[in-house]
Amino acid sequence: MERLDKILSNLGYGTRKQVKEIVKKGYVKVDGVVASDSSIKIDVDKSKLEVGDNTVDYKKNIYIIMNKPDGVVSATYDNYDETVIDILDEEYRAFKPFPVGRLDKDTVGLLFITNDGEINHRLISPKWHIDKVYYAEIDKAVDETDIKAFKDGIVLDDGYKCMPAKLDIVKVDNDGSMVNVTIQEGKFHQVKRMFNAVGKNVVYLKRVKFGPLKLDENLREGSYRELSESELKSVKHILKMN
Ligand code: URA
Repeated sequence: MERLDKILSNLGYGTRKQVKEIVKKGYVKVDGVVASDSSIKIDVDKSKLEVGDNTVDYKKNIYIIMNKPDGVVSATYDNYDETVIDILDEEYRAFKPFPVGRLDKDTVGLLFITNDGEINHRLISPKWHIDKVYYAEIDKAVDETDIKAFKDGIVLDDGYKCMPAKLDIVKVDNDGSMVNVTIQEGKFHQVKRMFNAVGKNVVYLKRVKFGPLKLDENLREGSYRELSESELKSVKHILKMN
C-alpha cells in the first residue's frame, strides 16, 4: 500500500502539492471512483488508477539503455558537469534512476540505468562474471604479447592484478590499433590503465556490450530507450532472478 500522492508524484505527475491540487479538482479516480484525498493509501497491484481520461501505467522500476555521449559524467549529480541523469526526460527522472557502474567522462557507449537496487547490486558484483566489451583505439601497434599479457592478468599501477581479459585485434596500421577488450571487472579507468601497463594509450573508448545487452546501432550518442521485455528477461536470466 502506498500513498496516492507519492505514487503519482513518483510517476511524474508533479510535486506532492501539485498532485494534491489535481486530486482536489476531481481529476483522479481509484477503481472508477473520484479520489477524495491525496493521502489515501492504495494497492497499486490491485487498484485501477486514472488521471483525467488516462489509465495510469503503474510500474515501480525503470530500465534504460543509453548510448552515453562524450563529456557527460556517469553520476546522478555533479557540481560542474552534466550527468547522464540530467539528459533523461522528467518522466524517467521521476523514477530516481542511477547508472549501473561508471564510464569515464570521455568514454561513450552502452550505459545501463535503473532504479532497481537488486539488479544494480548483482550486475556490479564480480561474483556474477558479467562480461563488458569495449571497442578501443590505441595509439600504438597491439600484438600477440599484449594478448597474452591481458590473458595472464595485467598488473595495474597500484599493484592490483586484473582478472584474465580477452584482447581481440580488429586492425593494426601505422596510426595505431583498433581492438575489442572483454573484462569482467570495473576498476577505476580499468581499460586505460591496462593499456598503460603495456606502454600504450587508449585514444578512444566505447562500451559495446554489457552482459547480454548490446549497444543498439540505432541509438545515437546521447539517446536512450527503455529495455525491451526480452532484454530485461535476458538480464534477469543471467542473474538468476527469474
Ligand atoms: N575502462 C576505462 O578506462 N574507462 C571506462 O570508462 C570504462 C572502462
